[in-house]
Amino acid sequence: MSALFRCVDIGKQYGGLVALQGISLSLEVGRVHGLIGPNGAGKSTFIDVVSGRTPGTGHVYLDDRDITRVPLSERRRMGVSRSFQRTSIFPALTIREQLDIAAHGAGGGHTGELTDMLGLADVLDARAEEVSYGQQRLVDLALALVGNPRVLLLDEPAAGLSVAESQTLAAHLEEVAARWKVAVLLVEHDMDVVFRVCHVLTVLASGRWLVAGPPDEVRSDPAVIGAYFGSAA
Ligand SMILES: Nc1ncnc2c1ncn2[C@@H]1O[C@H](COP(=O)(O)OP(=O)(O)OP(=O)(O)O)[C@@H](O)[C@H]1O
Ligand SMILES: [Mg+2]
Repeated sequence: MSALFRCVDIGKQYGGLVALQGISLSLEVGRVHGLIGPNGAGKSTFIDVVSGRTPGTGHVYLDDRDITRVPLSERRRMGVSRSFQRTSIFPALTIREQLDIAAHGAGGGHTGELTDMLGLADVLDARAEEVSYGQQRLVDLALALVGNPRVLLLDEPAAGLSVAESQTLAAHLEEVAARWKVAVLLVEHDMDVVFRVCHVLTVLASGRWLVAGPPDEVRSDPAVIGAYFGSAA
């Protein structure tokens, strides 16, 4: 199977700091690819570069088309969507209003099925500040899913959620990938979520590629235990 979204030799420098160097990974339809690593490893920077938010080096391909120079807004309309590490919702707007704005940016699309699936139908007319934090993070996910993206880049969607809320989110991610045929990149520190939903993992440390493979192999890799789980313990 050829990959839907291919990132090749991605790099990024901030002044003298090499935030990312030589990172390649591919996303496939219906699969969740986990991107993990300690704080400052470059995970958010990777999403910033491949989504088109931040300039970097390397190449990005969608359906084998080189989209490296395609601007962010156009990538979004082509079906490359992302969420942010911190909630990107507007507290004073209703959830319906924010979804409408996102639909406009994504080039259209109706949101009814989406909000039903995520259990948000009853709070559509509430302002974002009036709903629970767990629901706010589901709104972040809903905003990223507006317009039926083909590629979904998620930056720590479970951060700050309770165990139960994280499990709900994990179930939604599995459904999005499998049923909606989305290629997902999941940056996440919650290892219960990572090991539950990811088919394959790439591990970064200090901007460098450390190891990649199936979760069970990565989990027992000595380099990962040292660099990642060692420092996280
Ligand atoms: N706008 C920026 N200007 C300068 N340096 C930056 C900028 N954004 C990130 N960095 C640096 O780049 C490196 C990678 O940061 P990044 O946020 O991508 O890491 P991360 O893996 O997402 O970490 P975390 O798990 O804490 O979210 C860090 O050293 C960070 O300080
Ligand atoms: Mg980050």
